[in-house]
Amino acid sequence: MKRQRACIIGGTGFVGRHLLSRLRAAGYHCIVPTRRAHRHRDLKLYPDVELRLLEDGEDFASLFAGCALVVNLAGILNESGGTGFEAVHVGLVRRIVAGAEAASVPRLLHMSALHASAAEGGSAYLRSKGEGEDVAHGAALAVTSFRPSVIFGRGDSFFNRFAGLLGMAPGLLPLACPNARFAPVWVDDVVQAMVRSSTDPRTHGARYDLCGPRVFTLKELLEYTARRLGKRVWILGLDDKRSRLMADLLGRLPGAPITLDNYLSMQTPSVCEEHNGLLQLGIHPTDIDTVVPTYLG
Ligand SMILES: NC(=O)c1ccc[n+]([C@@H]2O[C@H](COP(=O)([O-])OP(=O)(O)OC[C@H]3O[C@@H](n4cnc5c(N)ncnc54)[C@H](OP(=O)(O)O)[C@@H]3O)[C@@H](O)[C@H]2O)c1
Repeated sequence: MKRQRACIIGGTGFVGRHLLSRLRAAGYHCIVPTRRAHRHRDLKLYPDVELRLLEDGEDFASLFAGCALVVNLAGILNESGGTGFEAVHVGLVRRIVAGAEAASVPRLLHMSALHASAAEGGSAYLRSKGEGEDVAHGAALAVTSFRPSVIFGRGDSFFNRFAGLLGMAPGLLPLACPNARFAPVWVDDVVQAMVRSSTDPRTHGARYDLCGPRVFTLKELLEYTARRLGKRVWILGLDDKRSRLMADLLGRLPGAPITLDNYLSMQTPSVCEEHNGLLQLGIHPTDIDTVVPTYLG
């Protein structure tokens, strides 16, 4: 039987690679556009994956021709090198939607973020993600969006980043926003939600908040990581004034561990307030303790 075609924008990233495995297992032939094909040559090894160089001003209608599914995972946590939130989270979504409509793609899955809101987002990141989500849902095709808290799993930039910070810390680690709250959600649960939704018409138009089963403060998550690694580090939580100052100062450096916009995002607890979309989709959320020890340390 001929495989259905899916195009995954952002398929080279952390979530993208996990989603690719699931979509391939579900029988899709996957097209993966990237701006940096040389970094992802390993994907060329799979006969059911087509790595394509994403050009500036790419014609998305041609890219999506014959696709039964388009997934948008493109996103940035920090603005850099002249690439802003607006361009990636809104402008790119407009072009993807226009391309999908022109190519008569029937289905779009869009990755947003928990508490993304064009009007009420607490940071430029959350406002731009909210605006992009609204653009996606304005498309003349069946759209479902996903709004996860922080995502963990093999290859994440969360626990792995903490491990890196703890590795460099000389016994003491000053921590901005120690009381910020998160409900870390496993990447496999997230991609399972996406794949389930792809074929379920009841999910058309839905926007799913996705959370893990437990809520932690940032300090608790750092302490958890330190315990897993067997590192004895004193984590010194900074008060709000010092947290903001640290984020503002460090955020001016390239590759900063925190920016002022990250600080602003963390003022909104990254926890599901009403429904957890995983439960709505029949997925039991996985605890960090089941997974993190398999890849950390
Ligand atoms: N990870 C989390 O904890 C988390 C939490 C909430 C929401 N999200 C959202 O989930 C999505 C995936 O996150 P992730 O952790 O997998 O991110 P990631 O590992 O940083 O991957 C980001 C992907 O976006 C693509 N991309 C970035 N800028 C682009 C641009 N200007 N044009 C085209 N493609 C671009 C990159 O492709 P190339 O570099 O190959 O071109 C890469 O494949 C993002 O939308 C993110 O906002 C993530």
